[in-house]
Amino acid sequence: MQAVDAARLWRHLMELGAIRGPGEGVDRTSFSDAFQRGRAWLVQHFEEAGLEVWVDHAGNLHGRLDGEDDATLLLGGHSDTVPNGGMFDGALGVLSGLEIAATLAACGRRPRFSLEVVDFLAEESSAFGLSYIGSSGYVGELTSADLERRGPGGESLGDALRRVGGDPTAVGPVDPTKRLLGFMELHIEQGPILAREPGSLGVVTAITGIAWYRFRVQGRAGHAGTTPMRERRDALVAAGRLASRIYEAASAVTDLVATVGRLEVFPNAVNVVPERVEGVAEFRSPSADVLDRQSREIMRAALPPEVSLGCTLSFEMDGSTRPVTTSERLQGVIADAIAAAGARGVRLFSGAGHDAVEIARRTEVGMMFCPCRDGVSHSPAEWVEPDDVALALRAYDRAARQLLGA
Ligand code: GLV
Ligand code: MN
Ligand code: MN
Repeated sequence: MQAVDAARLWRHLMELGAIRGPGEGVDRTSFSDAFQRGRAWLVQHFEEAGLEVWVDHAGNLHGRLDGEDDATLLLGGHSDTVPNGGMFDGALGVLSGLEIAATLAACGRRPRFSLEVVDFLAEESSAFGLSYIGSSGYVGELTSADLERRGPGGESLGDALRRVGGDPTAVGPVDPTKRLLGFMELHIEQGPILAREPGSLGVVTAITGIAWYRFRVQGRAGHAGTTPMRERRDALVAAGRLASRIYEAASAVTDLVATVGRLEVFPNAVNVVPERVEGVAEFRSPSADVLDRQSREIMRAALPPEVSLGCTLSFEMDGSTRPVTTSERLQGVIADAIAAAGARGVRLFSGAGHDAVEIARRTEVGMMFCPCRDGVSHSPAEWVEPDDVALALRAYDRAARQLLGA
């Protein structure tokens, strides 16, 4: 039996990574021109591997290899990136799936079960304020209200979906009668644990839940030269205090992290005391209870009168995803494959979100993590050593073959 080719996978990672918008990092945000060019590259490579290729109504790209039995294992990831992101987040899952499928297809003997490599649409937070768009569509969770959301330029998500080959009129889950054996993804850890232990690979036990709050800090505009300092209701200074209180409050809670990563200042002029700031606070926890209760409490207490400079805070929850545990059976298959490949398996929880959160509504999910340099991700500095990719591919291929009976 022909073996998977780590050098080819590496080449593919570099080739797809070179398809990006202008700028330092990899910019292939969902629905962008660069994203569409990345998709075209993937279609060509899926076809060259001998896979049957299509885009489902939720905008996910599939490459299928029929087995003797039509029960199907999904392997995949996402080819979209955050703005100014890296080459590996998401791409490793899609391209390692392609490598396994291409190798099986080339050997000419059908595996017992069928395999689909899936590039899920818009895993990252998109211009429409949603992440997991393709995977939530796959399981029938994308609503018509979601499809009416507007992005920059006023385009609706439904129209954007049509642009990438999806069909916003076809509501409901994709292939609901298809028998699925499970979904597995190989992903970089995006954290520092595995990088500290050379030769280790991760067995993911659970994936974080996320809650987003849109907020507005309302102050009062004033002349930057004439408004006395003590009479200002500076919304940006108040928003800074709010961010810092959220930071301190979340630091005091076990199993909770919080980030204020987006702020818009109005009117955003050098000589006007900021009148209003709008932003998003994001909370993450592996515990649904901690996430719901603590995030709400922290937001309620985030701008008390003694620090508010007379500004007011309003906020509302703008979506959430639930924490999910991975399947014990797939954890076992992945752990065994890691050991058989000569690596050390480390069980760990994912603080990053993944499409498996949505796909778990439909079938068993499992994830394997590969170390990345200094745990850095969502950054142009994201990097994975080729030797680690080769080790991870060897283990991941074993796990996939075990599940496919190949
Ligand atoms: C996805 O990468 C996320 O965790 O934000
Ligand atoms: Mn990401
Ligand atoms: Mn990812």
